[in-house]
Amino acid sequence: MEIAGRAAVVTGAAAGIGAAVAAKLAAEGARVAVVDLDREAGAATAAGIGGAFVGADLADRSAVPSMLDRAAALLGGIDILVNNAGGATAGPYYPAVGAGEWQRTLDLNLYAVMLASQLAIERMTAAGGGAVVNIASSAGLGTDAHPIPEYAAAKAAVVRLTAVSAPLRESAGIRVNCVCPGMVDTPSSRRSRARMTDAELAALPPVMPAEHIAEVVAGLIADDTLAGRTVVCAGGEPPRLLPVRDWLGQPQSGS
Ligand SMILES: NC(=O)c1ccc[n+]([C@@H]2O[C@H](COP(=O)([O-])OP(=O)(O)OC[C@H]3O[C@@H](n4cnc5c(N)ncnc54)[C@H](O)[C@@H]3O)[C@@H](O)[C@H]2O)c1
Repeated sequence: MEIAGRAAVVTGAAAGIGAAVAAKLAAEGARVAVVDLDREAGAATAAGIGGAFVGADLADRSAVPSMLDRAAALLGGIDILVNNAGGATAGPYYPAVGAGEWQRTLDLNLYAVMLASQLAIERMTAAGGGAVVNIASSAGLGTDAHPIPEYAAAKAAVVRLTAVSAPLRESAGIRVNCVCPGMVDTPSSRRSRARMTDAELAALPPVMPAEHIAEVVAGLIADDTLAGRTVVCAGGEPPRLLPVRDWLGQPQSGS
């Protein structure tokens, strides 16, 4: 899909990866809606790239439909949705906290992604097609332990949601793909790294600039051959498209 001239909604785009994605899509000629909880920073980011701003707390389930309606009204439709807003609380984490606390992490990282995608897919189907890119995380991959269980579980669900959406390419001309970054230099990762010990910091893989993820997102939007796929971005190595495998680890066609 050519990005120029398209209407693109990027969530969590006031700062970090989302801001880099919004800037990249605007530079490629898209009309961009910057969606964010932080109204001041979001409006400034949108103004800086000639985009529109939509304020919304995406951890609030009722805010998701109105956010998409507003963005579609401002842009004249939605061709591209980048589900980027995400993150975790400062802890403690599941199972040491009650449902009220881990639910917010699930709502932001999974429920908002599912509902925004569903509503955008409805619009894209009526318009003849579109592209969705989900920003998951390395936390959602693998079968090892993770220090933030609710975040890892939500991100793993986003990877599967992406994969099971592959048939939408044939049925509706909509391609859903996913990026799983490792450590990226953003406001939230700077806060996380500030809490780490020297030994933990030394064990980290190289930290990537947010622009690196933005390039991968733009590539997934542009490449019409990719649907239901996940790209892993680990610092210090080129982006890697994961092969399609079934639950027993057997390769599937298309990978
Ligand atoms: N930074 C990393 O190392 C890293 C690694 C893997 C995955 N990710 C994922 O990438 C995405 C972006 O991460 P980041 O590091 O750029 O985040 P960030 O926290 O640095 O910035 C995210 C932006 O999202 C906004 N936001 C936060 N909660 C929101 C909400 N409830 N509603 C609307 N907007 C909200 C913030 O105001 C901010 O502008 C997230 O989904 C995160 O899980 C990040």
